[in-house]
Amino acid sequence: MPSKVFSAALLGLDAQIVEVEVDASYGLRHFEIVGLPDKAVEESQERVGAAIESSGFQSPHHQPVRVLVSLAPADLKKEGSIYDLPIALGYLLAAEKIKFDPSNKIFLGELALDGRLRPIKGVLSFTTSCKERGFKEIVLPKENAAEAGLIKGIKAIGVENLKETIDYLEGKREILPHETNVEDFLETSPNYSVDLGYIKGQESSKRALEIAAAGGHNLLMVGPPGAGKTLLAKAIPSVLPLLSFEESLEVTKIYSIAGLLPKEKPLIGIRPFRSPHHTSSEVALIGGGNPPRPGEITLAHRGVLFLDEFPEFHRDVLESLRQPIEEGQITVLRSKHSMTFPAHFMLISSSNPCPCGNYGNPEKKCSCTNSQIQMYRRKLSGPLMDRIDLFINVPQLKYEKLVAIDEENCSLKVRKRVEMARNIQRERYAESHNKLCARLTNSEMEIPQIKKYCQIDLKSQDILRKFVNSGKLSARGYHRVLKVARTIADLEGSENILYDHLSEALMYRVREE
Ligand SMILES: Nc1ncnc2c1ncn2[C@@H]1O[C@H](COP(=O)(O)OP(=O)(O)OP(=O)(O)O)[C@@H](O)[C@H]1O
Ligand SMILES: [Mg+2]
Repeated sequence: MPSKVFSAALLGLDAQIVEVEVDASYGLRHFEIVGLPDKAVEESQERVGAAIESSGFQSPHHQPVRVLVSLAPADLKKEGSIYDLPIALGYLLAAEKIKFDPSNKIFLGELALDGRLRPIKGVLSFTTSCKERGFKEIVLPKENAAEAGLIKGIKAIGVENLKETIDYLEGKREILPHETNVEDFLETSPNYSVDLGYIKGQESSKRALEIAAAGGHNLLMVGPPGAGKTLLAKAIPSVLPLLSFEESLEVTKIYSIAGLLPKEKPLIGIRPFRSPHHTSSEVALIGGGNPPRPGEITLAHRGVLFLDEFPEFHRDVLESLRQPIEEGQITVLRSKHSMTFPAHFMLISSSNPCPCGNYGNPEKKCSCTNSQIQMYRRKLSGPLMDRIDLFINVPQLKYEKLVAIDEENCSLKVRKRVEMARNIQRERYAESHNKLCARLTNSEMEIPQIKKYCQIDLKSQDILRKFVNSGKLSARGYHRVLKVARTIADLEGSENILYDHLSEALMYRVREE
């Protein structure tokens, strides 16, 4: 009798159910896996054979038996080693060596030759999707049980090896479902490496940083070497509120799929801060490859993507950011299926004014040629720059500032203000929260929300008209200024956007070339 057990395949952050059917009949020794397996799945038969033998059964490779494993749906590519466990169990069922009811259970796990189970990636996505599809139990390697246990409503059974799994399934051994207590893993007082209070002077930069953090806006800092640009960027995580539980799950799913989840911590609570080097490739930044992996923009989801030394990045790499910045997600196309990874991040970037860094500095002479400066600055213009909301100059500090103490802007105080503004935004967009990717900040507003929440008075309309008609503000720029103005109003707790809020937003957006 052919057997059927269930497993799953990752599709972006989602998973699809895979049926593992196994037929074992008397005949010439043969083992075949069909249903678009990749090399790792094909090799599964060797691991499965050895693991079955180590667990006290006879390996199909040493008997006159024809084994056919079919992985359905047949047109979905099956990748990796997660099908080892369902294939082994499917074979033992089909060959009538063991007996259990496989309905409503999902099996995932790579087998070692001695029958041990090795941990897998993407467990949170698997568990969520399987629960949504009505499965009652997920059987997987013990190391992954804490992560699966985050989801209530489906039993997470962590097993150490194949023998233990069989004993459990046949009712000879009890294994309690793993229940992870979320409270144990939620961050309460994390240690940040840089506090905004350490950074002297630069009050206007800090103000812009606070606005960007409050509304999730994009920011570019330009200034001479050593002015504190990198330091300011590194302080951003310390002024951002911690992730809510729902956001934590979103971020954890991404890190789990990328294999970046720390072993002892199944839930990520701090907003991501990604700082890829300027030699990074397009695939590393945007995601893709085979099998598709989330890129830096997805790893920065709900957090910060920091591009230091912005003009040093390859032009194509920068251009590829245009669409995901606008859409908050990236779709990777494969032959038959497309995968969408979320990418709601704040883009924080920094640049020197010219290659030597002294352009515009009254005290130091710039040693660059005109063409060098032009080449360098070309990257700081055009469509990508149109997506930046706040442009700020970070000047060299004078001695008096460098030794003064700035108590007003320590991270704790700024974070409190940012949290307050973000709470206002969360409530404002509450109706979007049951959607797949909830809208949480002003930067994520689209035209209908801008129309609804960004009403401005006549005086404000006049000034915006002037800037748009003189070509200093594009249509996109116009909408972005309104969003930033909304955030500035929220920081003040003001329901209406006032003229002052709008003119401050405009000041950050319009820069002199
Ligand atoms: N405002 C500041 N307050 C305190 N220390 C500062 C400040 N600005 C710079 N520093 C000191 O200078 C060091 C260099 O700063 P940082 O790396 O942020 O400069 P940068 O603007 O990124 O320069 P570059 O353009 O060369 O990358 C910091 O590690 C810090 O010690
Ligand atoms: Mg720097």
